[in-house]
Amino acid sequence: MKDRKVALCITGSVAAVKCPEIARELMRNGAEVSTVMSVMAQKIIHPYLMEWATGNPVVTELTGKIEHVMLAGEGVGKADLVLVAPATANTISKIACGIDDTPVTTVVSTAFGSGIPIMVVPAMHESMYRHPVVTENVRKLGSLGVEFVGPRVEEGKAKIAEVKEIVDAVIRSLTVKRDLAKRKVLVTAGPTLEYIDPVRVMTNKSSGKMGVAIVEEALSRGAEVTLVYGPGTAIPPMGAKIVSAETSQEMYEAVVSELKSKKYDVVIAVAAVTDWAPEKKYEYKVPTSIETELTVKMRPTPKIIDSVKKVSPDTFLVAFRAEYNLSDEELIQSAYKRLKKAKADLIAANDVGRKGVGFACDTNEVFIVDANKKVVHVPLATKREVAKRLFDVIVNKLK
Ligand SMILES: Cc1cc2nc3c(=O)[nH]c(=O)nc-3n(C[C@H](O)[C@H](O)[C@H](O)COP(=O)(O)O)c2cc1C
Repeated sequence: MKDRKVALCITGSVAAVKCPEIARELMRNGAEVSTVMSVMAQKIIHPYLMEWATGNPVVTELTGKIEHVMLAGEGVGKADLVLVAPATANTISKIACGIDDTPVTTVVSTAFGSGIPIMVVPAMHESMYRHPVVTENVRKLGSLGVEFVGPRVEEGKAKIAEVKEIVDAVIRSLTVKRDLAKRKVLVTAGPTLEYIDPVRVMTNKSSGKMGVAIVEEALSRGAEVTLVYGPGTAIPPMGAKIVSAETSQEMYEAVVSELKSKKYDVVIAVAAVTDWAPEKKYEYKVPTSIETELTVKMRPTPKIIDSVKKVSPDTFLVAFRAEYNLSDEELIQSAYKRLKKAKADLIAANDVGRKGVGFACDTNEVFIVDANKKVVHVPLATKREVAKRLFDVIVNKLK
């Protein structure tokens, strides 16, 4: 991060004690750090500590030097990233409402207007974090492109993220391209489930990890992201708008409704949608004492990827295809056929029979096939890396 400047904005949380370490780690990675403190933050740690840690003067009030413009306006010496860490419930809500009445909130307001990336690291008691207005404000800021890191919810607290997680996020933000800025991306992820009776379901082993990695990558590249999420176990990032869907029908309806509500530039259909659903759902729990055998007749579920181009012909469509134990050539061939049927622009095929690939793993191997059958092979890598490579291809095609 050589020649990159971070404005570290500290607010009145006990987690402020982590700030000297955060600053030093950022500096170890090459960044220059300037500190801004709210009045309440100054009651928790002394500005001298941050002045010592960063080697730079600390902004504790706004004066005739218009420190907020110097740091987050346009021109020489401005910050490349505004990092609010720790961020109190109070400051998060003020930022979301466009209120700037502390040095921190004024720097953030200015950064918004100058297009400087803003990263927020919440820390507070869990009860404060669960306040519906705070939750809503976090979502609002996420939809405005603010990146959130953490919190870790444990022991009744929404604790500040680990220093390493914060520093990694800053490095990622300052080194990745913002090539999806102003783009709207819709991702489907996770499994869907179908009811046999009120308590029994059929589903698949998808965890949602690949889709969540795609959402994280899209957010970090500046996209506005909506995730239509089946009942997966991976935790989606705060920055995305989340629409929950349980059954294939619900997911289908959610996707169509999103596509009708706004113009999405890109749809990435990662969800492992159940291909069949029971023709009829028993309205009562089928008793095991009576039924020795149960025959369930299945019908096909609606094909979400086939509906995307019908509803929104100009949206760039990326499908995912999971196969089992095929050769590379068979995998590519089968994916290509599916791409043609859905009129998709790209399809990412993986073989979940291979080691380290597919459901519930943290890694994946994909073949990205385009409409001219040109193939980009991404060998076994973390799902985040696969997401990055996928977006490199997408962004190239969007140009
Ligand atoms: C010792 C102490 C610790 C606090 N810790 C937190 C915290 O972790 N998170 C939070 O949202 N508020 C916390 N507060 C309350 C905030 O400091 C208070 O809401 C204040 O108005 C925040 O102002 P600021 O956002 O301008 O810094 C704490 C207050 C005190 C006195």
